[in-house]
Amino acid sequence: MNLKTKVILAIETSCDDTSMAIIKNDQVIANCTISSINEQAKYGGIVPEVASRNHIKVIDKVFKKTLKQAKIDISEITDIAYTSEPGLPGSLHVGKVFAKMLAKLLNVNLIKVNHLYGHIYSASANCHYEYLFLALIVSGGHTSIYLVKSIREIELINETNDDAVGEALDKIGRMLSLDYPGGISIDNLYNSQKNNLNLLPHQSSNSQFSFSGIKTATLNMINSLKMKNEIVDKELIASSCLKWIIDDIINKLNYYIDKYQPAMLVLGGGVSANKLLREEVNKLKIKIVLPPIEYTGDNAVMIGLFANELIKYSK
Ligand code: KG4
Ligand code: ZN
Repeated sequence: MNLKTKVILAIETSCDDTSMAIIKNDQVIANCTISSINEQAKYGGIVPEVASRNHIKVIDKVFKKTLKQAKIDISEITDIAYTSEPGLPGSLHVGKVFAKMLAKLLNVNLIKVNHLYGHIYSASANCHYEYLFLALIVSGGHTSIYLVKSIREIELINETNDDAVGEALDKIGRMLSLDYPGGISIDNLYNSQKNNLNLLPHQSSNSQFSFSGIKTATLNMINSLKMKNEIVDKELIASSCLKWIIDDIINKLNYYIDKYQPAMLVLGGGVSANKLLREEVNKLKIKIVLPPIEYTGDNAVMIGLFANELIKYSK
């Protein structure tokens, strides 16, 4: 093997997906995930104990499948990257122990990666990142805007005061008895001709994100319709909620684009798969970088891509 060949094994276990990937000389050559989402769906949300047990159950299998997919031998691995934070403590622990043991056994470099920074770099396999840029990370656990000056200078400039976007969508989905996860159901139900319910006034563009208000307004609306024996139009309510949320995000992005004049805007996280969000950010007057749909949710590829950029930057 060429001495300069870099073979990064990436491990992501922060929530309910056990995921591994291999990045060899800047190319993603393997990507394997086993999710416990079907099990979690029975409970209508993530149960931490179920998630960590599942990681323990499948981590060896995922590792073997990943090596097989990459057609490499274990001895070819030069670096191991793993998600160190944030996430469910029990789930993170499983990935960390696996990564540390393997790095010791193979005597290779160990790289800790912040899960959210991974999301920021989830589109970097196919796109050259230009600094300084803004990153919007929208998932089930986080809603944040970062100002990225370099891979080592990532500044958090806005985050939610309460619910994350995905969390709010999932809860609204549950109120409307839609399939779990609500975010995907609401995306599929969205109708642009039925999105004009006046649920809640908008917040100012420079305020912190907050989604508990729209959640409560929706619950009040559903309860009042039920009390009056009126029809709960799921499509109208879901579409109006989603429109309110996306409008709020776009207002804030516009504020930060004016303020920082970034070279581009990168999206990441499960909610960045949302069709309305993708449509609306594409109208902004700035270069937009969207991850491929398969890398929007949690995955180890993004952890490997971040580690890959970090190694290049440190050289
Ligand atoms: O990033 P992710 O897979 O996991 C973490 O939370 O870290 O995000 C999951 C969230 C869920 O709340 C799910 O409802 C939401 O992303 N989501 C979507 C879509 N796909 C996933 N929300 C809106 N539209 C979608 N297409
Ligand atoms: Zn995530």
